[in-house]
Amino acid sequence: MNWTDYYLAKRTEPLHPLFDILEPLLPSPGLAYDLGCGQGKATLWLADKGWDVVAVDQEPEGLQELQDRLPPESKVELIRSPMESVVLNPCDLVLMNFSWFFVPEPGFSQIGAQWQAAIRPGGLWMGQILGPEDSWVERGYTTRTRAEVEALFERWKLHHLEEVCRAGKTVTGDSKHWHVFHVLAQRC
Ligand SMILES: C[S@@+](CC[C@H](N)C(=O)[O-])C[C@H]1O[C@@H](n2cnc3c(N)ncnc32)[C@H](O)[C@@H]1O
Repeated sequence: MNWTDYYLAKRTEPLHPLFDILEPLLPSPGLAYDLGCGQGKATLWLADKGWDVVAVDQEPEGLQELQDRLPPESKVELIRSPMESVVLNPCDLVLMNFSWFFVPEPGFSQIGAQWQAAIRPGGLWMGQILGPEDSWVERGYTTRTRAEVEALFERWKLHHLEEVCRAGKTVTGDSKHWHVFHVLAQRC
């Protein structure tokens, strides 16, 4: 997929409103993964707060932009790889903002099992999960029903679970039907 237009449109946008909910819940800086980091705006936000961040994306373009914008003192590792091939170390935060659903099965479940195990008790997961009524289903992206999303976080504290199911637009202005779960959860 060509992400150039997406990165361009996102460059000047503020972070998603979920980050406002995340910020007061952040533990003291530890290790975070930004999986499907794109141009790394979330990585930069965390690095600025003193976090060690591993930023992963399979496309070089966004990673290059991130590399160019990283202050020299940042503790950020960039990995160009499919996220499902990365081995996660024990960590305090995993971000999968608008990225996890691009991973087809069995990789989707494999990386899901990894972050469920890697996040330390008290650590956080934040991202989006696509629902079955989303129009991108025809592209083969991976979806979960609301019941499946709730089951995934059964033993987690859900700080935010918002289901959006409505006509809308993509970041680059194309019409689409969104069915997406915005999730912010904390491992108990
Ligand atoms: C919609 S963008 C989101 C980027 C960023 N997280 C954000 O919120 O702006 C999706 C990103 O996921 C990356 N991506 C898609 N499938 C991936 C995979 N299997 N492994 C790693 N990155 C992937 C794409 O290259 C793209 O940069």
